[in-house]
Amino acid sequence: MGSEHPPQGQDHRNTPGAFAALFPPGVIAVERRGDLEPEALSEAESESLGRAAPQRRREFAAGRECARRALARCGVEGAVIGRGADRRPLWPAPFVGSIAHTAEYAAAAVAHRNDFASLGMDVERREAVGEHLWRRIAVPLELDWIGTLPVGERVSAATLLFSAKEAIYKCVYPWLGLRLGFQDVALEVRFDGESAGTLEVRGCGAAPPLPALTARFRWDGRYVLTAVAVPADAAPCKRDPGELTDELVQGAGGHR
Ligand SMILES: CC(C)(COP(=O)(O)OP(=O)(O)OC[C@H]1O[C@@H](n2cnc3c(N)ncnc32)[C@H](O)[C@@H]1OP(=O)(O)O)[C@@H](O)C(=O)NCCC(=O)NCCS
Repeated sequence: MGSEHPPQGQDHRNTPGAFAALFPPGVIAVERRGDLEPEALSEAESESLGRAAPQRRREFAAGRECARRALARCGVEGAVIGRGADRRPLWPAPFVGSIAHTAEYAAAAVAHRNDFASLGMDVERREAVGEHLWRRIAVPLELDWIGTLPVGERVSAATLLFSAKEAIYKCVYPWLGLRLGFQDVALEVRFDGESAGTLEVRGCGAAPPLPALTARFRWDGRYVLTAVAVPADAAPCKRDPGELTDELVQGAGGHR
């Protein structure tokens, strides 16, 4: 585990486009903050959500809006981003991507399949993971690391681990078809300055061996942001995404 500590306090400056800085060149990330208002969803998107509470609908729509704007920057206007039975977003066929949202922060990232095998991202309020959850989301090595930190920094640190594991899940599931559990991954945190750094990802527990992955993170104001991108040539895809339960069908502008 890294020897430096997460920064204290809640007043760190919000950085516009913070996710874009966490992904490598070739990944387009779009985000929006503030209260999220209901946005226009396509009929297919709206139906894929089924009956959902207004807050869930707002978050879903905000994530889809970010995804549509990211795809538009890749030349695909008005894309429909469906939703699999397993909840993963269904991207236009030449693209991979990921979506994350909280009540007041939404983001999406996309990239071309020729360049990236998969993407994952997550955002959490930095106080999200209280002590009663630590044993559930962290493996013994990670708990040891949390224990080395000043008491006031431990919740932020645990939230970082949680967020990174959510991002890794969103990346690995569409890529390899693995439903990782929190005890299947061990993260080694390395700081690069006070508020950001990398996480080396190791498979452990009952999970099949994972290819080497590195996630990146940043504490940004009230939030922790995590992102992982797998280059297309990183490792052979063990399972074609098309073999997953839903077909990758959605799209616009002739992209299939
Ligand atoms: C799927 C999961 C990671 C989503 O995370 P979350 O914090 O609940 O929600 P977020 O707002 O961050 O992200 C939700 C988005 O994740 C995406 N997502 C959901 N399921 C997904 C999947 N199977 N594959 C890829 N992306 C998925 C969706 O885009 C979803 O938003 P949408 O429904 O509006 O389209 C989480 O609900 C979950 O099941 N976690 C348990 C397993 C786990 O995290 N293990 C860690 C192992 S290392």
